[in-house]
Amino acid sequence: TGGRVPFIAGNWKMNLDHLQAIAFVQKLAWSLKDATHDYSATEVVVFPPFTDLRSVQTLISADKLELGFGAQDVSEHESGAYTGEISAAFLKALETPYVIVGHSERRTLHHETDEQLAAKVAAAVKHGIVPVICVGETAEDLEKHGPSAVPVAQLRAALAQAADAKDIVVAYEPVWAIGSGQAATPEQAEQVAAQLRIVLSEVLGEDVAQATRVLYGGSVKAANIAGFMRQPNVDGALVGGASLDIAEFSGIAQFL
Ligand code: G3P
Repeated sequence: TGGRVPFIAGNWKMNLDHLQAIAFVQKLAWSLKDATHDYSATEVVVFPPFTDLRSVQTLISADKLELGFGAQDVSEHESGAYTGEISAAFLKALETPYVIVGHSERRTLHHETDEQLAAKVAAAVKHGIVPVICVGETAEDLEKHGPSAVPVAQLRAALAQAADAKDIVVAYEPVWAIGSGQAATPEQAEQVAAQLRIVLSEVLGEDVAQATRVLYGGSVKAANIAGFMRQPNVDGALVGGASLDIAEFSGIAQFL
């Protein structure tokens, strides 16, 4: 991981209401405390639905839990007539440290475009929220263009309005590996992560590129995390399904 602090993130997607979230976060924090792993050297971050953020933020800050949190999406607009949207300013007011931008479910189901995602990244950066930028190819892209062409193009596009960003996280999530039980191999993840780091270097400069965590996501479990974490350019994981199971997620966070 090149000296970068490992980043283990749980994307809850549309699961757990705010009451369930409170119980879950408490149990997760206890489970991590009981583990022998040194968490001062790993960042563990949960991404709950919007309606949970206030509760999760209060719990983490009141109990000084060793957990981070973030939102799953953000509007590209600052404020105004955008019914249903949440602005980066609102997330900032809640002291939200991270926000996922460009998850493949947003790209596919909500037709989010590269231009829109670039504006979302810029909005997050403007408010000092670290965007976790998701990129990844479909099975069809993989067949047509090979493994890195689409993720590389998506990352370039996402950074189009954020050439001055210093603090971002990138998540490589091949769409064919998400929720399929069929993870990429550690070598496949490393190959794309290395290409993404080259893009980071070209767009944001070598220092920022070296400091940026690049995650792998797609069917990560406790049983396969170690192989990913051994790769020089993979600095953590963005976990979906397995992040909703405390034993499984704390196993991933220990990446033994
Ligand atoms: O954002 C994480 C996600 O899309 C991966 O999901 O369920 O394959 O771990 P899953």
